[in-house]
Amino acid sequence: MTKRMIAAVAALGLLALTGPASAQNPIIIKFSHVVAADTPKGKAADKFKELAEKYTNGKVKVEVYPNSTLYKDKEELEALQLGAVQMLAPSNSKFGPLGIKEFEVFDLPFVIPNLAALRKVTEGPLGKRMLELMDSKGLTGLAYWDNGFKEMSANKPLHGPADYQGLKFRIQSSRVLQAQFRQLGAIPQVMAFSEVYQALQTGVVDGQENTWSNIYTQKMHEVQKYISETNHGYIGYVVVTNKQFWDGLPADIRGQLEKAMAEATTYGNTISAKENEDAKADIIKAKTSQIIVPTKAEMAELQKAMQPVYDEMASRVGKDLIDEVVKTVNAGTN
Ligand code: LMR
Repeated sequence: MTKRMIAAVAALGLLALTGPASAQNPIIIKFSHVVAADTPKGKAADKFKELAEKYTNGKVKVEVYPNSTLYKDKEELEALQLGAVQMLAPSNSKFGPLGIKEFEVFDLPFVIPNLAALRKVTEGPLGKRMLELMDSKGLTGLAYWDNGFKEMSANKPLHGPADYQGLKFRIQSSRVLQAQFRQLGAIPQVMAFSEVYQALQTGVVDGQENTWSNIYTQKMHEVQKYISETNHGYIGYVVVTNKQFWDGLPADIRGQLEKAMAEATTYGNTISAKENEDAKADIIKAKTSQIIVPTKAEMAELQKAMQPVYDEMASRVGKDLIDEVVKTVNAGTN
């Protein structure tokens, strides 16, 4: 969709907002996302729809568009800024092109050891401060939603860092991820999520990194012979809305939507780990790809090879922020 078309759709959306909301004339929230409905994000979005419509007695109608049916990665953020959609949940890795680089801190290799450590950031003062960074771009950050930890896939077995040499990997639009693959001697290529399956199938790229849930629901395991269980990085989302839209809502409705969002967040973040475990089990059952568990020594080598990314990306992401995240996730563990 061109920018002009997005603007025209946005104008229609604003027209629909005039007049008081009622069940007959509801406020429409278009919630666009790029993954399947049967994923942690897809299920949390559907839960938000259910609760938002219930708590507002139908004065708000939420239309969820999964699987990039409305917009692909880059377009959806433009559409949100223009008001053509009202809600998204892009991954932390996708805000850089908007000029919000700080969320790439979550892409640093091995920075998040587990979900409990992640919550220390997202549910604490640092997470709140980071959400406020969205304001300067006309967005309001509402919540952090999980997916889970990433695995590496390719058509050759990936054990230690040497195995990545020269391979083309699809990445999300994050400089940190670009640096990570460059450190391995691989060739990173930014690509929209909706195009990954075909790119793997046709050999445009050799491999990719993603969660079990995303690999399974996009059928990537059918076109990748090997998946290495590296858990080297985390994919999570920031639920964002258009600030002008959000601030313009009647206060009672905004309050009901905040309640629906808080509950949908708890729901999604409670099921995320199990969703990924189930997807892993389904991939094992499908027998289309072999799962490799790198040895401790191979994992240590991988981590060592990726470590320079921290220094290399300090000027982009912010050295203080990196230090604060590292300190926060490790608080109480030493
Ligand atoms: C990806 O592009 O690989 C993921 O960010 C997709 C998603 O939304 O989980």
